[in-house]
Amino acid sequence: MTFDQSHDDSAGDPALQNKLHVAVIMDGNGRWATNRGWPRLVGHRKGAERVRELVDACPDIGIRYLTLYAFSTENWKRSTEEVLGLMSLFARYIRREAGRMKREGVRMRIIGDRKRLDPKLQTLFDNVEAETAQNDRVHLTVAINYGGRDEIARAVRAAARDVAAGKLDPDSVTDASFARYLDTRDLPDPDLVVRTSGETRVSNYLLWQAAYSEYVFTQVLWPDFTPQTMADILHEYGLRERRFGGVK
Ligand code: IPE
Ligand code: IPE
Ligand code: MG
Repeated sequence: MTFDQSHDDSAGDPALQNKLHVAVIMDGNGRWATNRGWPRLVGHRKGAERVRELVDACPDIGIRYLTLYAFSTENWKRSTEEVLGLMSLFARYIRREAGRMKREGVRMRIIGDRKRLDPKLQTLFDNVEAETAQNDRVHLTVAINYGGRDEIARAVRAAARDVAAGKLDPDSVTDASFARYLDTRDLPDPDLVVRTSGETRVSNYLLWQAAYSEYVFTQVLWPDFTPQTMADILHEYGLRERRFGGVK
């Protein structure tokens, strides 16, 4: 696969580009299927194929960390059929891809509250994380039963337990030390958050981590999203000036 590399220079420091962290709110699967008169789950299945393609393309387009929103703490409101369909899709993806991820240098992590999920799925998550823990070429993180507020609340509970156990001095807590209680403790903050399907909201995604991320909203529905779509978005990102509160 080839990509439009014409923007390489404008994307800035190649060293920085090499560890780019892109987070994606993969939205629009349901509409993509409904537009064709198909069940929503067909859209989710097509969406999973797009994930596979994008993960493969990450080294070529300069993404080191890819963090995907697959199921929110609010998505339990959907029909049982859709929720169960999504859960079995997650299991199938991991079963099918684990070997290849291991060979291709992909380290997979799952963030979110996994305790509420089927124990078999939890075991799959634990195993794929352990099997790929030595990899460092691409860091694929999938958010499942993830909500930014829930993540912060769980982190507060963990920190409070450490205070109660005498392991943490409350007055020593800084934003950096608190972040070590978050699910993303091993990841850099996202440089860029992409949301597909034309919706322009955050929907409880990476509320803490995206404090200074750039946002790109695209009309493309997730099942139509290709590596070239991402390459085009990275071009747009490369033209932005990130100031982090300072002045140029
Ligand atoms: C995103 O697509 C995938 C999940 C939330 C699991 P949607 O299922 O939200 O698709 P739309 O927004 O209904 O089109
Ligand atoms: C956000 O999409 C969650 C995921 C992509 C997993 P939703 O489709 O659930 O978000 P809302 O309900 O439109 O905000
Ligand atoms: Mg949606």
